[in-house]
Amino acid sequence: MKAVIFDLDGVILSTDDYHYQAWKKMADEEGVYFDRKINNRLRGVSRMESLNIILEKAQREYGLKEKHVLCERKNGYYRKLLNHITSKAIFTGAIDFIEFLKNKGYKVAIGSSSKNATFIVKRVGLEILFDAISDGNNIIKSKPDPEVFIKAAEMLKIDPKDCVVVEDAKAGIDAGNRAKMKTIAVGEAVNYKKADYSFSDINKIDKNLF
Ligand code: BG6
Ligand code: MG
Repeated sequence: MKAVIFDLDGVILSTDDYHYQAWKKMADEEGVYFDRKINNRLRGVSRMESLNIILEKAQREYGLKEKHVLCERKNGYYRKLLNHITSKAIFTGAIDFIEFLKNKGYKVAIGSSSKNATFIVKRVGLEILFDAISDGNNIIKSKPDPEVFIKAAEMLKIDPKDCVVVEDAKAGIDAGNRAKMKTIAVGEAVNYKKADYSFSDINKIDKNLF
């Protein structure tokens, strides 16, 4: 292995609750039922696909234009909440683990479906650690499509088969497998059988694998 590609939300730091609060506000305003269980299905999924999942509970059909407006509205709420994010949101052990990999000569990248990923990475002061950031802005198809990880490997100039993906979403593990990369599941994906390795969180990943 030559490179490790990390998902951002739920792997390196926690923005889950901000996403939940922003979608919840939008759903309440629209009178659409939404709870944390539904929110779990949005992990790793793009903004528009997340909205489509939420609108499964809507009483009427929404047109594409209207959906774009709702996505923008949710993102406005989310960006407002993100203004409060600090380095405290970074999970224990995440920086140590990335530095350990870099010291061993691995390339490290972000592979996130979020269009806000670069903003978040900069905001919490992590941009210095990563050799590349592949995010929701440079892809057409979101996870489980492998595009975001393939683009990350291209940016790093490393063959996908020499890359490892670290993910907290089943869709992300599927994407890593489809990219022919090794996969490590953490957090919410810990029991997902399709991952090559599983650990409860980034701090528990066995360093002997590297
Ligand atoms: C992923 C999150 O990282 O980014 C998803 O796990 C989210 O929940 C997706 O929907 C898209 O995020 P954004 O910031 O582009 O709306
Ligand atoms: Mg995630």
